[in-house]
Amino acid sequence: MYKIAAVQLSPVFLSVEASLKKAGMMCESLDADLIVFPELVTSGYAFSNKDDVAAVAEPFPNGKSFRYMRDLSARHNASVVYGFPESDGDKYYNSAALVNPDGSHYLYRKTHLFYREKLFFSPGDTGLIVCPAKNKVPVGLMICFDWQFPEAARVLALNGAEIICHPSNLVLPWCQQAMLTRSLENRVFSITANRIGTEVIGSTSINFTGQSQITSPLGEIIQRLSPNLEEIAVAEINPEAARDKTVTEMNNLFGDRRPAFYTDILNPRQRQT
Ligand code: ACM
Repeated sequence: MYKIAAVQLSPVFLSVEASLKKAGMMCESLDADLIVFPELVTSGYAFSNKDDVAAVAEPFPNGKSFRYMRDLSARHNASVVYGFPESDGDKYYNSAALVNPDGSHYLYRKTHLFYREKLFFSPGDTGLIVCPAKNKVPVGLMICFDWQFPEAARVLALNGAEIICHPSNLVLPWCQQAMLTRSLENRVFSITANRIGTEVIGSTSINFTGQSQITSPLGEIIQRLSPNLEEIAVAEINPEAARDKTVTEMNNLFGDRRPAFYTDILNPRQRQT
C-alpha cells in the first residue's frame, strides 16, 4: 500500500520563510509516501504586480524552498510536491516541483494560466510531465486551472501517470466535482491539495475554496476536507489499481480511443491516422 496526503493550509502572503515553516510544522508527525502541498504554497497568491512576484520567486533547484522541501522529503522519507513562484532569468513561472527522498527532483510549469496570473507569469513551457515518485510510482503533475482542460489529465494518464498530483489555489466552485470525472475518465487517482483563506487585492477579496481531496480511479471521493480549516487528508491506496483501464470485457479506456476523430477542425494539420 502507498500512503498519500494532501496538506490544506493558508500560506503567509509574501513571506517564504513563514509559509515554509507553517507547511513543515503542519506535517511534523505525518507519515506518508507522497505529500502534496497547494499551488504557490511558499508565497500566497494575490500578487498586485510583478514586484510582488519578484520578491518571493526563486530559481529551481537553487532556492531556499527547494532546500527546505528536499530536507522535509528526506526527513519524512516521502516524495513531496509543492507549488512555488519560479524565477528563470527575467521570466516568472507558476511552477510545481516533485522532490524525492533520494534528492531526485522534477519541475512542472503551469500550462494554463488563470486570470491575473497572465499579468505576472509566463505560460509553462515544460509540457505536462510524468515522473517517478517514491517506489518509482509514476505521478503526473498539473496545477490548479489545468483541471479545466481535460487534455491535461488525459495526457498525463496516457503517459503512464497512476496518480495526478494537483497543487491548487481554487477560486471557482467546480473543480472538486470535475476532478471526480478526470479520475474516472482516465482511471487514475488524483490528489488535489487546495488552499483555504482569503487574500485581498485593492477592493477585491479572493476566497479560496479548500475541500482538498483524494479521488479513486472509479471517480470516488476517498477523502475530502473542509472548506475552511487547515488540515491534512490521508489515504492508503494501491497505485497499481490505476493500470487497469478495463471498462467492460469488450471495452478498454485507452484501447478504444479513436484519435483520428478527435482532431480540431480548425487545426487540420494535427489530424492523425
Ligand atoms: C487557479 O488556477 N489558481 C485558479
